[in-house]
Amino acid sequence: MKVLRVGICGWGNVATGMFKAIVDNKFFIEQSGVSIDIACIGARRDNPKCNPGEIKIYRDIFDIPNQDIDVVVELIGGVETARELILKSIKAGKHVVTANKAVIFHHGDEIFNAANDHGVKVLFEAAVCAGTPIVKMLKEELAPNRIKKISGMLNGTSNFILSNMEEGNEFDDTLKLAQDEGYAEPDPAFDIDGLDAAHKIGLLASIAYGTTLPPEEFYIEGITKIDKKDFLYADMLGYTIKHLAVSKLNKANIEIRVHPVLISKTSYLANLKGVRNGIEIDTDLIGTIHIAGSGAGQESTASGLISDVIHLANSNIEIIDTKKKNNSLPIKDFSSFSFQYYFYIEVQDTPGVMASITSLLAHQNIGIESIVQKDNLEENLVPIILVTNSFKETKVKDIKESILNLESVNKLRTIRIEEI
Ligand code: HSE
Repeated sequence: MKVLRVGICGWGNVATGMFKAIVDNKFFIEQSGVSIDIACIGARRDNPKCNPGEIKIYRDIFDIPNQDIDVVVELIGGVETARELILKSIKAGKHVVTANKAVIFHHGDEIFNAANDHGVKVLFEAAVCAGTPIVKMLKEELAPNRIKKISGMLNGTSNFILSNMEEGNEFDDTLKLAQDEGYAEPDPAFDIDGLDAAHKIGLLASIAYGTTLPPEEFYIEGITKIDKKDFLYADMLGYTIKHLAVSKLNKANIEIRVHPVLISKTSYLANLKGVRNGIEIDTDLIGTIHIAGSGAGQESTASGLISDVIHLANSNIEIIDTKKKNNSLPIKDFSSFSFQYYFYIEVQDTPGVMASITSLLAHQNIGIESIVQKDNLEENLVPIILVTNSFKETKVKDIKESILNLESVNKLRTIRIEEI
């Protein structure tokens, strides 16, 4: 049995979840031929929810890399202090395991280059979809494949909120629930504004396509502009609404984008509800693969972290080959994309209003695929729902402004439609 001595930095929810899983699932972990010995913990204060017994606690996390250990598990979160701790650990000859997507997104290339120079590894399975396997799978099991497209819901909190809104609940109530359950980030803006999903797709694109870490700028939009009524109209049109992160290989560039979409109700991703993360990967050799599982929370994250520690003991495969990055294609400029759009337009119920909207779109050469006009709302207002043909992103801003400038238009919401 190989024994790996581990020092855990941080002693919050994720760290104590990892500690408990190592204790409770010792038998299963050791089936892999690896025994994990938690040698020390770095934490400024005790955690009343978890007693680590005899394990020595250092009050300065920067003492951990100097201990007699094989692996530093970085669970302090944040970016700059985490970067410093990881680089110190690497220089001290320690492998690093982290669940911190932000630090890898912003400083991945620097960190992996330092790890290569010092002959150690930095693994981050739990940073994307927590314990649901994707990082090592993409790097190892799918290595013989050309990865054509990766698309998925990578933020559990957003999927949880959208699924609850689909059931008729309010955004704010559901966000509070996600915070209580421990899914949401300490600053939930990271979840609902799309940054968390952006970090994760940035990491996956880096593995699949060799894009840099940090990547060039790409389009990021969260879920805050979606109204629960949009689910009703999307449903009538055969769609549901998901927050999707996409990375795709094109001839001349790589797509990376994160935003809400309408997707067909019959698609695989549409049917993954709650805190579940789900990913669809189009490959040339295996065809389309689906992976789904819990993408947030203490236990799922513990599984991802422990799988990396086991991997360190059992494999020599490098997780990121930084040399590959020299050949990476540029990231596609978002303004050159075209999408079909869902428009929710709330209007005063006056004669000619529909004609003025359709002629405005016709003037811009934008076709309409379907129109739904529903019952009156209060105060003589009527919702008009349009699905447009595909048109260039460069036109979107002008079109929205022109529609909102029409006298009888009260409100406008738009969501892109994704071909899955
Ligand atoms: N806040 C994140 C989520 C946790 O909701 O997916 C896991 O990264």
